[in-house]
Amino acid sequence: MDARDIIAQLRRGEPLGVSALEWFAQGLASGAVSDAQAGAFAMAVCLRGLSPEDRTALTCAMRDSGKVLNWDLPGPVVDKHSTGGLGDCVSLLLAPALAACGAFVPMISGRGLGHTGGTLDKLAAIPGYRTEVGLSELKAVTAQVGCAVVGASRNIAPADKRLYAIRDVSGTVESRDLITASILSKKLAAGLEGLVLDVKTGSGAFMTDIEAARDLAHALVRTAQGAGCMASALITDMNQPLVGSCGNALEVIEVMETLTGTGVTPALWDLTCTLGGEALALVGLAEDAADGAGRIAQVLESGEAALRFGEMVAELGGPLDFVERWRDRLPAAPVVRPVRADRTGIVQAIDGRMLGRGVIALGGGRHREGDRIDVSVGVSEIVMLGEAIMPGMTLALIHAANADEAEDAARILRGAFTLGDAAPRPAPLIYERIG
Ligand code: URA
Repeated sequence: MDARDIIAQLRRGEPLGVSALEWFAQGLASGAVSDAQAGAFAMAVCLRGLSPEDRTALTCAMRDSGKVLNWDLPGPVVDKHSTGGLGDCVSLLLAPALAACGAFVPMISGRGLGHTGGTLDKLAAIPGYRTEVGLSELKAVTAQVGCAVVGASRNIAPADKRLYAIRDVSGTVESRDLITASILSKKLAAGLEGLVLDVKTGSGAFMTDIEAARDLAHALVRTAQGAGCMASALITDMNQPLVGSCGNALEVIEVMETLTGTGVTPALWDLTCTLGGEALALVGLAEDAADGAGRIAQVLESGEAALRFGEMVAELGGPLDFVERWRDRLPAAPVVRPVRADRTGIVQAIDGRMLGRGVIALGGGRHREGDRIDVSVGVSEIVMLGEAIMPGMTLALIHAANADEAEDAARILRGAFTLGDAAPRPAPLIYERIG
């Protein structure tokens, strides 16, 4: 086969079929396809799109470009993926909760992307926790504890690793079909039986409008199902952070407060239970999603999820007493400053991109790949939509490495909040389910 023919067929909007896409994905992984050809391929997909059949074939071919895990466990293998948001620390609660309900969760996660946070960066706040583990350790910890939240090793979907890097510099990230194949190739390489997808929409999401989120959710569900994995998606609100904190250690605090029953954010609790309920129902560990949500709530309340979390942290190199001593173990930023309101009003909108940019300015996220991040910094006590504000009230608390960075971030963060006279129309946490 010849990459030029495949690209030309795509350019003409013709279907490619399984063998051409397998050849191309293998070529991406081996280097037989050049950067120029990969860029042209990505652009052609962006402009012409793929048929549902070709999207599934590309996803499977990228999944199979590296190792695909197989399992022999006494329970189903299941996972959750979120398209990314602010204060979204659901994964750290849900993986141990699903494990406590009898599922096995090899959760291959990513770092922060753009203005949104990433699960691996949050885990970096836990001293000693290793996210870079080989596949045999991922398998062993998953089998022993029931869950392991780690990064993608080099041999998981190498075709996606290469194509993603080329998309990133060729203006071809925003393609429904390429996003679908990219997300699912990595997730499905973990050998999942079931996958629940949290597709976010709103000011802090990549898909700001619900139609685009719906379109992506349908593509993700249909493609995962086409690849032999049971799947459903929830479209959920990201017009404000899921919890009152954005920043890596600060979000782990939110997780630990929930796991240990010392403080609960209703939106985080509800979304974790709803996504977990979906996942349990998909793989037959619950009668339906409502029954599953009840089971997740039960293991969060009973401390069984906390126990699994502690075991996972210990197995992956973190403190043995993390669940008991997390307050002493997490790093704290030296400078804490409020962002104060200068007028009266009701919080009408929160610009999630601006909030994320504030966290990046503090050093809590990356400007470019490879940047080091400071896991202790971020923003906490963020006001919520609809809150009434008086002059001098705190809109958010900045946690910074020094006073200059706190000042720079305050300038950005002040612009993230729109105050007005009327309360905004309340948005539901979950807009719809696609399954
Ligand atoms: N996350 C991914 O893994 N890939 C994309 O293309 C977008 C988000």
